[in-house]
Amino acid sequence: MKYIIGNWKMNLNIRESAALARGVARFARGKEFLPGIVLCPTFVALSEVRKILARGRIMLGAQNCGPDKNGAYTGEVSPAVLKDIGVNYVILGHSERRQIMGESNELIARKVRAALEAKLIPIVCIGESEEIRLAGNAQEYIHDQLHGSLSGVTLGRHAKIFIAYEPSWAIGSHHSADIASVLDMHAYIRKETAKILNTHIANINVVYGGSVDDQNAYSFLRENEVDGILVGGASLSIHRFDKILTDAMEIISAQQAL
Ligand code: PGA
Repeated sequence: MKYIIGNWKMNLNIRESAALARGVARFARGKEFLPGIVLCPTFVALSEVRKILARGRIMLGAQNCGPDKNGAYTGEVSPAVLKDIGVNYVILGHSERRQIMGESNELIARKVRAALEAKLIPIVCIGESEEIRLAGNAQEYIHDQLHGSLSGVTLGRHAKIFIAYEPSWAIGSHHSADIASVLDMHAYIRKETAKILNTHIANINVVYGGSVDDQNAYSFLRENEVDGILVGGASLSIHRFDKILTDAMEIISAQQAL
């Protein structure tokens, strides 16, 4: 399966989120070979988008959640409440939250544990900065981020987890990472994550993010090592997102014909 995850960040209001969700739902209706589609609107648009997606095959994701189930945590959003309103996935540890909001690996690991407990599927983001990459330390850095962000995490029998490899220098820069280095890193992440979680590599989904758009999505999606893509900017345009979905469908149908 291939997954296309749209991260709308803090870009759309409720009306715009609903309109975009309606557009994606319209595109997906009746289509064969559809990839897994996850739309991640801002918290306050989740309920509205949920209503639109309710009867379709598109899944709903949140962009963050609190590290606790409930309690005196002013301003936090409980993963259990997200589950309750129909959210299936949650993006955790996005580089914007790590860099701008100062989230640590330790906090992210708490969120991952809380999300799994609420039966949400975490999409755990990791990725090195340009400085680290140029110094030749990317793999070491990813190793530490993975171990830190997954500390104390166990996968239940039917639980799933996604790791999103998103080098921070590639996000929103119009310069995606080159395929060869993405494939190398994905293989490493898959192996290391399976080791940390003491599970089979088949249970780990590794997606790439960072300036994926309708021009380059195909070249990532056609690779077996890439289970999907996390798309920011290009997911805000229905035309670009539809083109990405069309590319994914072409790849899935070709794979099934083998
Ligand atoms: P981008 O964002 O596609 O705009 O680079 C990806 C992300 O931040 O998840």
